[in-house]
Amino acid sequence: MPNTALMIASSDEHFREMVRDNLVNLPNAKIVAEYQEVAANLYIRVLQDLERNPTAALIVDISGDPEGAIKSVEKVKQAAPDLFVIVSNFHADGETVIAAMRAGANEFLLQPIKRTEFRDAVTRMERAPRRGSVGESKLGRLYTFIGAKGGVGATTMAVNFAAVLAQRKHSTVMIDLDWVGNDVAMQLGAAPQYTLLEVAENLERMDQALFEGFVTRDPLGFYLVGPPDALEQPANFSDHMLREFATFLVEKYEAVVIDGGRAVSNEVVLAAAQVSAAVFLVVDQEFPSIRNAQRYITFLMRMGFNQDQVRVLVNRYTRKVTAHMATLEQIQQTLNQPVFYGIPPSPAVIASINKARPFVANREEAGDLDRVFRAFVDKATGRKKTPADPKATAVGA
Ligand SMILES: Nc1ncnc2c1ncn2[C@@H]1O[C@H](COP(=O)(O)OP(=O)(O)OP(=O)(O)O)[C@@H](O)[C@H]1O
Ligand SMILES: [Mg+2]
Repeated sequence: MPNTALMIASSDEHFREMVRDNLVNLPNAKIVAEYQEVAANLYIRVLQDLERNPTAALIVDISGDPEGAIKSVEKVKQAAPDLFVIVSNFHADGETVIAAMRAGANEFLLQPIKRTEFRDAVTRMERAPRRGSVGESKLGRLYTFIGAKGGVGATTMAVNFAAVLAQRKHSTVMIDLDWVGNDVAMQLGAAPQYTLLEVAENLERMDQALFEGFVTRDPLGFYLVGPPDALEQPANFSDHMLREFATFLVEKYEAVVIDGGRAVSNEVVLAAAQVSAAVFLVVDQEFPSIRNAQRYITFLMRMGFNQDQVRVLVNRYTRKVTAHMATLEQIQQTLNQPVFYGIPPSPAVIASINKARPFVANREEAGDLDRVFRAFVDKATGRKKTPADPKATAVGA
């Protein structure tokens, strides 16, 4: 019996619950993703989840806004033509069914869903040709950095990550979502004139020329946009805007690097994490940061992330631990998660921040740190899976 993996898209909690209920009776069936809206950018999340679950199918509840939802299905099918899609609605009027099929739906399920009909649809889905993968997606990838505590180095990691990608000639955009910190511009010596507020105002008519016309370009070639410098400016940037913005960015750029600061539960940061290929949770070896990382991971898992998406990055990593520091093994045990990479401490970091340039821009001065950091970027951007065995996990330093 094959394993059945399903992604559910519906703005209606009852629908998602109904599907979950129906799946309970099917052995080997599981839900790998739930999307709480059937938005235009559904395909981005579907593509990202398909990377981890290449044989998964998608069930879309179009009842909220049939016309809009069918357009979303069409975009999903264009992006992943081999994906098996089940569309569901309260009415099976000819026009809607035909539109859904034209958009590429493989099945239509009438609501309220009957158990037998659901089971039959799943059986047909299982019999449909299995897909190995969706192929290389042309969409850009988002990487979000979140600090498990203040000062652990989330901004430094994010800035240098974007810098390495730009040095490698990947078209890259860096977004600072740390509204209070606004440290990305500081670390890059930039004084942006335009901010996320202008992005928000121009989202409807956003295109590449407009975007590149108003955001700051770092000398290394990547674009940077962040909050306004004045703290009294309200954070008028919603999770919805972030999703729209991300949809625009991944179509036009190869990589988007986000400094999420510490606010993992902030809805904008959470939305960024949700559309990210990887979330780097930056910790150090002090117990308060490990303890917080544990809370963050628990929260992210509750929000539907899987272990693969959340990657623990130990900054200032050293093997020579003192009494109040955790070893790598202790970190992995406490977090029940392999450490993805360790970045060594180096005076070159502070020197580079004082110069307002990323340390990777000065390879000689950064020496070993530069080498380890680039190896981290290699691993993070490679399509290889993280080894499940923590002992096999490469840790620098
Ligand atoms: N690998 C490192 N070696 C030495 N110093 C480091 C390293 N990483 C970061 N630092 C130093 O730690 C300080 C905090 O770094 P950074 O601002 O990147 O952290 P953060 O997690 O973004 O902090 P915040 O909570 O303020 O956003 C900086 O002064 C930086 O120089
Ligand atoms: Mg910061």
